[in-house]
Amino acid sequence: MARILLIVGGGIAAYKAAELIRLARKAGHSVTPVLTAGGAHFVTPMSLAALAESPVYTSLWDLKDEAEMGHIQLSRAADLLLVCPATADLIARMGAGIADDLATTILLATDKPVVVAPAMNVRMWLHPATQANVATLRARGVTVLDPDEGDMACGEYGPGRLPEPADILARIAQLLPGTGSGSAAEGGGGAVPGDKPAAIAVTSPLAGTHILVTAGPTHEPIDAVRVIANRSSGRQGFAIAAAAARAGARVTLIAGPVAVPTPGGVARIDVETAQQMAEAVADALPADAAILVAAVADWRVANAARSKLKKDVGPPNLEFAPNPDILRTLAQSPDRPRLLVGFAAETDDVIANAAAKRTAKGADWIVANDVSGDVMGGARNRVHLVTAAGVEDWPDQSKDDVARRLVARIAEEIQ
Ligand code: C5P
Repeated sequence: MARILLIVGGGIAAYKAAELIRLARKAGHSVTPVLTAGGAHFVTPMSLAALAESPVYTSLWDLKDEAEMGHIQLSRAADLLLVCPATADLIARMGAGIADDLATTILLATDKPVVVAPAMNVRMWLHPATQANVATLRARGVTVLDPDEGDMACGEYGPGRLPEPADILARIAQLLPGTGSGSAAEGGGGAVPGDKPAAIAVTSPLAGTHILVTAGPTHEPIDAVRVIANRSSGRQGFAIAAAAARAGARVTLIAGPVAVPTPGGVARIDVETAQQMAEAVADALPADAAILVAAVADWRVANAARSKLKKDVGPPNLEFAPNPDILRTLAQSPDRPRLLVGFAAETDDVIANAAAKRTAKGADWIVANDVSGDVMGGARNRVHLVTAAGVEDWPDQSKDDVARRLVARIAEEIQ
């Protein structure tokens, strides 16, 4: 059972901190609340104190508290720090190392694992400034949870909602010693050997690495308004980018035209054509691993028209030129990532074709999937991991689970 120092930031989701304290206490954890000035606009110290059965700390300048329980002691007396809800402002101040109130001072002074549960307006969450701050924190080993997606108090829809308190506690439980459930891909760790029974180690298995992911289809123009496209939704690649970010990597996601929200902590570059994708990949190097999930068009229209083709002149005579093979080019590049993973969407002889592709293209691994069903655009995937050592058949599972497992394997390989 852990001693949780709970920092409650200012935001409409602060009321959920009360429920979180209740559930944490029920699970046997102790909770010491620290309330920011913003948080105090939404919940009272009294209600948190009653639920936590603990004093609530609010000010750096309360001399009585500094004498009895200063900010260093508060951090020392905890096994884990949880920031919930974490506002965009609090995340930015953590990223910048600002220490101008009790909460940020504790966060700067601590050497304990820190879990951040963000909650904010969708635009604020998706803003590049917030995403950069989240990436900074993750690169430093802070576990930043992905916000939930849904209707927001401000009337908008998208990612930014505080995860449910029960889910937050489940994630914390994964980080606690003795549960054995800290999965590598989730950024969880196990117990630290030693004499402190409640000590917690949170390791980010991909901390310090740069992971490059391509995802989605490409669009190859025919004229000013028409394109050649394919049915790739981008979901599998986005899930891999999200899982890599959760595992602590700096992630660059190069995405073709898709309607999937950018995962937390991921730097996304949008492209349209295969040529643009090839350039963006080259610009993003060096990387420790590249996972090329995009369904890149093999051909582009060499004689694409600048303006819209008129129907009455009859069907166009399209001429095609081959697109660059990004995977093959990357395999031969002097900047070749240490681990190069390709995907192979096949409808026949899935494994044999994937194995041939692995050697022909110079990839280390190929993730082969049978796309004869509704994999493209669907939520589930059944894949085979083809490596130099052989073939692993993975069960039918969600694209998120494929992503988690693949990222865990990547972490084992490159760390
Ligand atoms: O040859 P095929 O398209 O089946 O190869 C699939 C793999 O190669 C995927 O990893 C895909 O992202 C990558 N690829 C690429 N550039 C291309 C074609 C495919 O990077 N032009």
